[in-house]
Amino acid sequence: MGMSLYSYLKPVLFSLDPETAHGLVFRVVGQVSRWSAISALQRALFTYDHPVLRCDLLGHTLPNPVGLAAGFDKDGLLAAPLLGLGFGLAEFGGVTPRPQPGNARPRIFRLSEDEALINRMGFNNRGAAHLAERLALLPASEALIGVNLGKNLDTPLERASADFIEGLRSLHDRADYMTINVSSPNTPGLRSLQRRDSLQRTLEPLCAERDALARRSGKRIPLLVKLAPDLARGEMEALVEVAIACGVDGLIATNTAVSRDGLRSPLCGEEGGLSGRPIFARTLAVVSALYRLTAARLPIIGVGGIFSAEDVYALVRAGASAVQIYTALIYRGPGLVREIKKGLVNLLQRDGFTSVTQAVGTAAADASSSDIAEKDI
Ligand SMILES: Cc1cc2nc3c(=O)[nH]c(=O)nc-3n(C[C@H](O)[C@H](O)[C@H](O)COP(=O)(O)O)c2cc1C
Repeated sequence: MGMSLYSYLKPVLFSLDPETAHGLVFRVVGQVSRWSAISALQRALFTYDHPVLRCDLLGHTLPNPVGLAAGFDKDGLLAAPLLGLGFGLAEFGGVTPRPQPGNARPRIFRLSEDEALINRMGFNNRGAAHLAERLALLPASEALIGVNLGKNLDTPLERASADFIEGLRSLHDRADYMTINVSSPNTPGLRSLQRRDSLQRTLEPLCAERDALARRSGKRIPLLVKLAPDLARGEMEALVEVAIACGVDGLIATNTAVSRDGLRSPLCGEEGGLSGRPIFARTLAVVSALYRLTAARLPIIGVGGIFSAEDVYALVRAGASAVQIYTALIYRGPGLVREIKKGLVNLLQRDGFTSVTQAVGTAAADASSSDIAEKDI
């Protein structure tokens, strides 16, 4: 499916309820991706690599910094064909220890005028053990595989750490990193885990378990914390302090937003998390702020409202070591990954960078530009 094919397919998919469209794509791609001719065709259509795109993240060298964001494939049902789109990293999940149905439908809404989505899925997923089975089927790939961990709805907040630990144990052998999701707006109270004391109570036992597993197995799984875009400056400072003190390995900024500034779509009043174009400015501001607050001691993955190579380049220059995309894939189709990679090569070469990693944080050196980016924090 190149960009042109998607332009025919999109009106059909957009005529359906968003979750029905997602399910249909999953069923069709799930079937046809079994045929080897299709995966060969897919490689021919989507493969694009360039040495300038190689980048360092969490002790690995990735073929490129463009990632699939969590929530697109919560149960790892299309892991192989999704990697075939040319992502340098892919995050599956969010999963909880036990399967759960999530909220009642409809629970995802298209805000087409804003190129945005609102979702209140509520961690619908088949459970951590099922995802582990799915990922076990994945052929070895150059891309970094992440898993996004949540807590079950009926697990009390004080016991959130136990759920994350269970997820970590179940998926330890199947992931290159794991993300602790304390920022989904769709599990009541979850975001309060970002506050200093709760965060410390959640992260300390988790990092201890990571280290114990590493001693036993010889494999150390980096743990990343995923943040909300709606944090105030002081909350961000506290979070960075605790993350570093507990030994967290990186940050993902950001999850969906609860704010609804400047939207035009009739569905903008729906409850849930906002993603897509309208949150990009916020993502850029948060990544800039985090890069400065961490003094580059923790790698940052930038996510939220990325639609173009220019968006990726701005986030990298603000301090992101890699990026992830969800909503733009719905609006632009699967060819977007290749388009962004090509554009990014041009931007990096134009400015004389020989690798993505070389460009990371270079906007922070120019204080005036990051002051502009951070003005509304
Ligand atoms: C339908 C949907 C489900 C999502 N599920 C998860 C999830 O399970 N865990 C998570 O950390 N983020 C989840 N996200 C958030 C995305 O990973 C991403 O942070 C957010 O959508 C912003 O990126 P975007 O503007 O490119 O979509 C979900 C987003 C959407 C739209």
